[in-house]
Amino acid sequence: MKVPYSYLKEQFSDPEPILDAFREQLTRCEFTFGPELEEFEANMARYTGARYCLGTASGTIALSMLLRAVGVGEGDEVITVSQTFVATIGSIVAIGGRPYFIDVLDDFTMDPGLIEQAITEQTRAIMPVHYSGSPAHLEEILAIAEKHNLPVIEDSCCAISAKIDGKHAGTFGAGGAFSVHPLKNLNVWGDGGFVVTDSEDIYQKVRLLRDHGLKNRDEVEIFGFNGRLDTIQAIVGNYLYPKIDEITDQRIAHAEKYDRAFSTPELSRHIKVPPRRSEARHVYHMYMVLAENRDELLRYLIEKDIEAKIHYPIPMHLQQATLEQDPPFGKTDLSRTEAQCRSLITFPVHQHLSDEQIDYVISCVREYYSR
Ligand SMILES: Cc1ncc(COP(=O)(O)O)c(C=O)c1O
Repeated sequence: MKVPYSYLKEQFSDPEPILDAFREQLTRCEFTFGPELEEFEANMARYTGARYCLGTASGTIALSMLLRAVGVGEGDEVITVSQTFVATIGSIVAIGGRPYFIDVLDDFTMDPGLIEQAITEQTRAIMPVHYSGSPAHLEEILAIAEKHNLPVIEDSCCAISAKIDGKHAGTFGAGGAFSVHPLKNLNVWGDGGFVVTDSEDIYQKVRLLRDHGLKNRDEVEIFGFNGRLDTIQAIVGNYLYPKIDEITDQRIAHAEKYDRAFSTPELSRHIKVPPRRSEARHVYHMYMVLAENRDELLRYLIEKDIEAKIHYPIPMHLQQATLEQDPPFGKTDLSRTEAQCRSLITFPVHQHLSDEQIDYVISCVREYYSR
């Protein structure tokens, strides 16, 4: 049985409604801005409960613009994690900032207990990541941030629909950045993202930044980015918007099935399911666990036609681009991150998988450890 990682063909198996909206759009040829983008922004503001939303060209640029909007610039430090995709770190470095890496908890998100020791004269912001769709421990993070008067920018790129006590990830701090890249839970036909914020000031700054800093057609107020979400991608986002909850609930159901199987006495000796918090809605952009003999298990599963993956074998603080920094980026002890990267494995969890496919993955894992 094949268990694919990607689900794009099924996701867009009926493209006609999207193509019809493209055709209608072609009669107007409003390829930037326009009513579809405004509709997407209104949809995402309503969905997340944020006051403002702005569509952006990617999740990465959404993060960079939010950081700029809260005043991060050349040489400023942003406390963040190494257990993440490169884009978190790239978004800081791209605007002249410097990441300061702190370690993560067993659920792969920022350890709030390490923030205070990482604060320096140069610290300008804290950027937790809701990694894999698992909400970071925002209450603790925000309490420390408030104490030190530091803004929190949430990397919510993997976390559409994730919540803590019913409040959406991305809406706790000064601003949240989301990705709608094709492999995200809400996905469009290319790159895209959006920013949410409750702050009028941040909203106005990101609005300027994403359009070259142009106050109007002829006047440049600040230097910015070409950071807009393409109108045709907004059309795809609007088509999928009503399906977000259904997509997410199906992923959660698959993940719960995996969790139950891997928590049995037989498998819990080999597979470690990260702690799940009852107040947090994890949306499983990725279903990640720690596995004994990870590399061999991965090879075994791939032979069985299961597209398991590793996110990621090398943490950000050990990447060449980081090691070449002079002076080096700041960091705390990162041994938990390093240990996790040696054992992390991601199993397919997308909404188009059947129960039989999830059962097949579980039975192959069981088979591997019982040999
Ligand atoms: C944790 C994290 N942050 C940021 C991003 C960047 O999003 P984008 O690919 O839309 O630029 C991603 C994308 O995979 C991500 O996983």
